[in-house]
Amino acid sequence: MTNTTAAETAPAPAPERVRVFDTTLRDGEQAPGFSMSRVQKLRIAHALAELGVDVIEAGFPQASEGDFAAVRTIAGEVRGPVVCGLARAQFGDIDAVARATEHAQRARIHVFLATSPIHRRHKLGMSREQVIDTGVKAVRRARELCDDVEFSAEDAIRTEPEFLIQVLSAMIAAGATTVNVPDTVGYTTPDEIGALFARLKREVHGFDGVILSAHCHNDLGLGVANSLAAVAAGARQVECTIGGIGERAGNAALEEIVMALRTRSDRYALETGIRTALLYPTARLLADVTGATIARNKAIVGENAFAHESGIHQHGMLRHRETYEIMRPEDVGFSRTQLVLGKHSGRHALRERLAHLGHALDETRLDGVFARFKALADKKREVFDSDLDALALDLDPEAIGPWRLQHLHATTHLGNGASASVKLQHQDGRVCAEAALGDGPVHAVFRAIARAAGLVLEVDDFQVRSLSNGADAQGRAALSVRHEGRMVHGRGVSTDIVEAAAQAALEVVNRIERLSPGQPLLLAANHA
Ligand code: KIV
Ligand code: ZN
Repeated sequence: MTNTTAAETAPAPAPERVRVFDTTLRDGEQAPGFSMSRVQKLRIAHALAELGVDVIEAGFPQASEGDFAAVRTIAGEVRGPVVCGLARAQFGDIDAVARATEHAQRARIHVFLATSPIHRRHKLGMSREQVIDTGVKAVRRARELCDDVEFSAEDAIRTEPEFLIQVLSAMIAAGATTVNVPDTVGYTTPDEIGALFARLKREVHGFDGVILSAHCHNDLGLGVANSLAAVAAGARQVECTIGGIGERAGNAALEEIVMALRTRSDRYALETGIRTALLYPTARLLADVTGATIARNKAIVGENAFAHESGIHQHGMLRHRETYEIMRPEDVGFSRTQLVLGKHSGRHALRERLAHLGHALDETRLDGVFARFKALADKKREVFDSDLDALALDLDPEAIGPWRLQHLHATTHLGNGASASVKLQHQDGRVCAEAALGDGPVHAVFRAIARAAGLVLEVDDFQVRSLSNGADAQGRAALSVRHEGRMVHGRGVSTDIVEAAAQAALEVVNRIERLSPGQPLLLAANHA
């Protein structure tokens, strides 16, 4: 018989929780190419709630009427996570967040103020004392309006550590319930941020009941590594975005932090509330809403993340999965099957399969998808999961209009270019027909659509990719166009790749028009 001690038989303590603060709709959305309408933001916010994030940063209400409206809608409709709005350390901003989040189940006001010498001198023109005074007044004001107040010391990483300790201690005394330490410019390294967080835990006053948070940008590609180092040193909230979208090189990617904590629980012994099987569907939804494609090799949610191509790897995988796989694809929602439905499949089977893929559609949307599914199943015998994803995600009413494609004809003249003619109808009643020549049919179609919409498109990138197997596979076209310094994306899906390209161009002109409705739009150079 072996002797066991009480410590050996006692149940292991429950792992501590790291809160996931998602800022896809604020820090992520402000990056070029990721802007979203209010309806699109609401759709993402519902998906984030389903995913299990603790906090949704829904926007910056004082920044624009659109941002205010989006935060207000999300606060009024999304249940589960805390809904948070960003504010500068100014009463007007703080009051705007309070108004925008008044109907939230649980609201948070997130006040930020820069603390680093470079920001104090060149941006704020404030002394250290003025920074503390301004921050304290702002946090006190926020606490009068809301019980849950986060303070962020912008550019904390380049702030003198002893001053940062003073600032955070003052903000906690003023009522902040979370203090966030952003690496605003993505400058730190894991060992540096780890040491800083450990010091903050030791030296900041009044931490009892207050959450220490990390917010890491990815300029050196270290956003996730730095967030994990901060967590290992005591952070209990991580600020991150789906797919790592965000300013410049982006923010730390939510799915990477979550799966690192889960896969390496032997090292972190911490848990999150994320339903990891929804990571892939959520990333796909974001990609579809913004039109920005996910890189194939993106960790966790890229198409190649679980693909084993080399013979040696495949052999190892067949013998024992864990030889080359540290996570199971189904753990992140990659539960793909091959052939699923065909033209004899009914509405019930479609609904079941869509639900399995993470698309919970109401009856009206299901009707629309079912009609398009039947049309597709008539064209191609086998309808794959990827086809169904495309059908379900392409029904966003905001992505349709103001222009609709009424007619499209394209011809290739072997060795002599191509020509295309299109007819577009605007929702204000205008009908514009145009024809154009091009190097190939896609080029000619882009030109004809751009002319009909009164634009010259500067194409930055265009790609077509097969969604499944076989000569009748649907092609997904992804088009990126530069417009007034912003990147605008469009995509289209069809068994006809010229039609898919036309849909992508149409989405681009629609997005541009929605960005600046009613304005004559001229984009120069590199003409499509
Ligand atoms: O990167 C940053 O400093 C921010 C703050 C507003 C939190 O996004
Ligand atoms: Zn940021």
